[in-house]
Amino acid sequence: MYRSRLGNDLSDITLEYVSSIKDDSEIALFDILGSQAHVLMLQENKIISKIDAKKILVALESLKKEKLDSSSSAEDIHELIESLVIKKAGMASGGKMHTARSRNDQVTLDIRMKIRNDINILCNCLLDTIEALVSLAKNHQKTIMPLYTHLQQAQAGLFSHYLLAHADALFRDFDRLYDAYKHVNESPLGAGPVGGTSIPIDRHSTAKMLGFDGIVENSIDATSTRDFVAEYIAAIAILMTNLSKIAEDFVLWSTAEFSFIELSDEFTSPSSVMPQKKNPDILELTRGKTAEIIGNLTAILSTIKGLSTGYGRDLQQIKSSIWSTSKTSISALLILKSMLLTIKVNDKQMKKATNSSYLIALDIAEKLVLKEIPFRTTHKIAGSLVQQAHNSKKSLNKLTSAEIKKSVEGTKVNPTTVSEIIKTTTTISSLQDRISFGSSGYSEQKRMIKNRTKKINDLRTNTTKRENDLSNALEALDQKISNLIK
Ligand code: ARG
Repeated sequence: MYRSRLGNDLSDITLEYVSSIKDDSEIALFDILGSQAHVLMLQENKIISKIDAKKILVALESLKKEKLDSSSSAEDIHELIESLVIKKAGMASGGKMHTARSRNDQVTLDIRMKIRNDINILCNCLLDTIEALVSLAKNHQKTIMPLYTHLQQAQAGLFSHYLLAHADALFRDFDRLYDAYKHVNESPLGAGPVGGTSIPIDRHSTAKMLGFDGIVENSIDATSTRDFVAEYIAAIAILMTNLSKIAEDFVLWSTAEFSFIELSDEFTSPSSVMPQKKNPDILELTRGKTAEIIGNLTAILSTIKGLSTGYGRDLQQIKSSIWSTSKTSISALLILKSMLLTIKVNDKQMKKATNSSYLIALDIAEKLVLKEIPFRTTHKIAGSLVQQAHNSKKSLNKLTSAEIKKSVEGTKVNPTTVSEIIKTTTTISSLQDRISFGSSGYSEQKRMIKNRTKKINDLRTNTTKRENDLSNALEALDQKISNLIK
């Protein structure tokens, strides 16, 4: 339809090469809505007549219910929809739809409408997953487990504390996406191909009709930029790395060696040959798909970094990366949430692992610090206790008084004090004494759970308000269309 300046048509292979029609199915509805707002604005500003507007809007309404033919010879959804409108409304009216706009402002409008919807979906999914983490944490405030650094046992901790750590990371992912929405929800419509138009359009009116909070003012910026896409995908790439880390822990913890957790059957896969297998494939795929999304971010950044200012067709390529990033991350969150709600936690095994090591060493050192002994000295004493216990393959409370005496050699510390402290220090006492803000201590769990529960509710309220604002705007647009075409 657009090839008036050009002689020959594209060959089939070239058409397939340039066409984005398959990727465009994701934005077809937004393209129709954007066109409807544009046509209403043209009519309200007396740029086209009521009769023409009516015919175009009727045609667009009917297209909403049709399945658009992705095998058509159109280069993209914008061409396809315009040609169908002309077919239905006639050239005299339908031919006026594309007045004072370009595919360049159109395509970025559609992408923005798609991403803002996906952000709202992701925000809800994130809150659901965080809620699942917090609710599991509620049930495991007394479940003792080893905490690791370098994958070596470090301190005694609580499973609730572990879960809340991931909840906090996901809250940050929520913030990043929630904030990215502000840069996404601005309208580029009416920017034209790059430099605006001589026709007296009203860009603020179409922005309002489509539920945008503002406008991308500069028409060059509006049509050229995809930084809002990069911001969105980067936020998801970070989110996915957070999910991937949880996945890695759970894969490890469901091994026979760890046995800290057992995934429910619906989140595992069998082996084609080994009948006993229950593989954590779904979690492994979260790790694998995270790599793919990091790849999408790289593809998008590489596309935009070298592009001269103004629309370039390279930008067409980033659409499939956006859609797949949205889809994968939404699924990953839905799956993780359900997995968390059905996971079996092996409290006994976690506790056993904690007791089999010398995790109270730091607690012993800290108790000596409270007796005004320098930490560096107490660290040395506790280290010597662990070394002797390890060498004679026993726990700290089985050390003899001679061994304890040896540990304080060269210091002024009384060995009876050390012996008293060893006797009264257990993983449980350690968790009772751990009172620092945000620590694994028992009392901190209660406070953090209460605080995070309130935070989830507040963020839900904000998300719902945002969704309502959007659906109210689109309902008002629908009403306007109905009023005009009835
Ligand atoms: N199919 C194109 C895309 O997805 C639409 C814009 C085309 N504009 C142009 N001047 N060729 O980016």
